[in-house]
Amino acid sequence: MAELAPTAELIDGKVYAERLRARVAEEVAQLRRDHGLQPGLAVVLVGEDPASQIYVKSKGEHSLAAGMHSVTHRLPHDTDQDELLKLVADLNADPLIHGILVQLPLPKHLDEKAVLAAISPDKDVDGLHVVNAGRLASGLPGLYPCTPLGSMILLRETLGDLTGKRAVVVGRSVLVGRPIAQLLLQADCTVTIAHSRTKDLPAVCREADILVAAVGRPRMIRGDWIKPGATVIDVGINRVPFDDPQKAAAGRTKVVGDVHFKEASQVAGAITPVPGGVGLMTVAVLLQNTVTAARRLAGLE
Ligand code: GUN
Repeated sequence: MAELAPTAELIDGKVYAERLRARVAEEVAQLRRDHGLQPGLAVVLVGEDPASQIYVKSKGEHSLAAGMHSVTHRLPHDTDQDELLKLVADLNADPLIHGILVQLPLPKHLDEKAVLAAISPDKDVDGLHVVNAGRLASGLPGLYPCTPLGSMILLRETLGDLTGKRAVVVGRSVLVGRPIAQLLLQADCTVTIAHSRTKDLPAVCREADILVAAVGRPRMIRGDWIKPGATVIDVGINRVPFDDPQKAAAGRTKVVGDVHFKEASQVAGAITPVPGGVGLMTVAVLLQNTVTAARRLAGLE
């Protein structure tokens, strides 16, 4: 059977991420010119996880390209908790650093929650400190997580005003599901958080004008779970073997989302591809959060 062309509008993360990075670079230039302030980002990587190494390299390169001060700390896998906490304390006290990001996941012997809690909330550009989660849930200004903020930018660019839309978020993680639900609520959506225990998940998804998939299960959300014309934001980044058996047998893998793209793109009104969608926004928002943190720490807002 001939493959059907997607009928949904493709939400191009590359375009919006480039636009945001360009705006951040202008803001950095202005801060340096008008206030002698150069936003600084410190990224900490413990161990050699291959995916994390790629993400960390990209964060360092993009922060430099935006004109920021950028430091990457690469620590060995066997770094102990006290050494890591000492580094975080040093970065908290460093006046040249305005944003601190500890790349996750950390090796199993380290206590992730304690490390995140040790980052100064004012430098927590990942938005993962409980103080920032509390500020978000209370509708107060703070630093909010990057992927959720990036998803909101894509939604506003695609739909404009989100008031009154029915939004369903599939996934309740601290990193994505919960914060994006809070942001959708702030945007006056009617929000449902669905998860692995939700009864009749396909029916719940079919109510959504905005469907956000953040479960970490490859192609779980099928075409017939989607209301015709809905906007679909796929946050999933899953590595799977190629469909082609020869490539799969050679051990080759590709990245797919949590949404079955071929099916969904026949039903949705607009959809983010994976790769090329939300993932590209994350680093751009990280840069924006670092500028925000620098401005606040300098008393400029
Ligand atoms: N690993 C995967 N995504 C993220 C993220 O958004 N922040 C951090 N710190 N680590 C991650």
